[in-house]
Formats: sequence, structure tokens, C-alpha cells
Amino acid sequence: MSDNINIAIDGFAACGKSTLAKQLAQRLSYIYVDTGAMYRAVTLYFERHNVVADNALAVGDALANIHISFVKNTTNTHVDTYLNGENVEQAIRSSAIANKVSLVSAIKAVRTFLVEQQQVIGKDKGVVMDGRDIGTVVFPDAALKLFLTADIEVRTQRRYEELQSKNMPQNYVEVQKNLQERDHLDSTREESPLRKALDAVVVDNSNLTPEEQLAMVLALVGCRVNG
Ligand code: DC
Repeated sequence: MSDNINIAIDGFAACGKSTLAKQLAQRLSYIYVDTGAMYRAVTLYFERHNVVADNALAVGDALANIHISFVKNTTNTHVDTYLNGENVEQAIRSSAIANKVSLVSAIKAVRTFLVEQQQVIGKDKGVVMDGRDIGTVVFPDAALKLFLTADIEVRTQRRYEELQSKNMPQNYVEVQKNLQERDHLDSTREESPLRKALDAVVVDNSNLTPEEQLAMVLALVGCRVNG
């Protein structure tokens, strides 16, 4: 019998959730799912088709036409997000989408639509999933739940550098403003707000290198898998 587990990673924006999730998936040969990318892809679709959040009919019609998938990039180790067969990995990281995604992800129908898909992906275990509601809503029974946090200046610097390295430079102050606004909206919305699950382990990685954090978390995984 497989002793694979599901690992739920939640936390504020730009806390290094996806870096950790990718490292874990690679080390454990698990599937990595970036649920933020799914909410971003829906936001991109809504933008392109002028779908207004408070028009329930239009939202329902739009969701019926959205198919999101993840495909391994052949030129690097990353996984790219596809929206209806189109690689949207670059488009969903733009500031236009970052500024709208919290509003779209607060819509109940959008959450129901995506959570259902996330639960299907995780039903056989062996999944590392990062987002805002993974330990609380998507996998409330996950064997390991992590809640990442880091100092806002550290997070801003990381996201600023990440955008620069992707040739999508943005103003530092704007990056910070977006992170703070999203954290506020994501934590205060009515539908599945960002919350630490009661049984989640809090990891403040402000002063940890990705390698130090990975070593710590792998030790936790070992405890969960080996009892
Ligand atoms: O992880 P990220 O920053 O790419 O996520 C983008 C937005 O998507 C985030 O601000 C809130 C929303 N989101 C969510 O509501 N629930 C999730 N499980 C993942 C992301």
C-alpha cells in the first residue's frame, strides 16, 4: 500500500509557498498543484470576456467554458498553466491579473468550481498543493499542513526580484501594495478566507534559506509518513 500523504501549504502572498511546494514535489516525486494559478487563470478568462463578478449568470456560463490544466515545461523543470489549451503562464503573473484575482477568488461559484477539481487531483494522495484554503477546505484531512509566513519587506523583495527575473519588472512600492491588499482581501472575505488550520504547523521563513526550510519540512514529512 502507498504511504503517500497530501501536503497542504497555505499562507500570505509571496511567502515562498510555491518554492517550497515545488521542492517537496521533486524530492518526494509528488504532484505539485499551484491553486493560485487556477484562480489567476479564471481571472484572466473573466478579464478577456468582460465577465462581471456580481452577474451570477455570466459567471456560471463562463465557468462552464473554462478548462485549466498543468503541463510540464520541456525547457525547464517548471509546470505551466494552460487555459483552454493556451499556455497562460506569463499572462496570469501580470500586475493586471494580480490586482483583480482577489475579487474573483472571493466569488463562491468560482471557489466551488476550483475546489472540486483540486479535490479530484488529491484523491489518491501524493499531492503537494499550495494556496489559501488547502488545509481548511480542500484537504481538511491532509496528513501535513503548513502555514507559511514571512516579514512583509522580505516578501516584497522576493516578489520584486522574481518579477524582474521573469522580465516583468514592477515598481517595489506597487508590488508591496498589491501584496498587502491581497492579504487583506483574502483574509477577510466571506467564502473560505485565508486562515491557519488549527492543526497546521507555522513556518516563518523570513530568516530561512529555501534549503533550510526544505530540510525542516522534510523532517516533518518523515514524522507523518513513518508515524
Ligand atoms: O498564490 P497566488 O498569490 O498566486 O494566488 C493568487 C490569488 O488567488 C490570491 O491572492 C488569492 C487567490 N487564492 C485563493 O483564494 N485560494 C487559493 N487556494 C489560492 C489562491
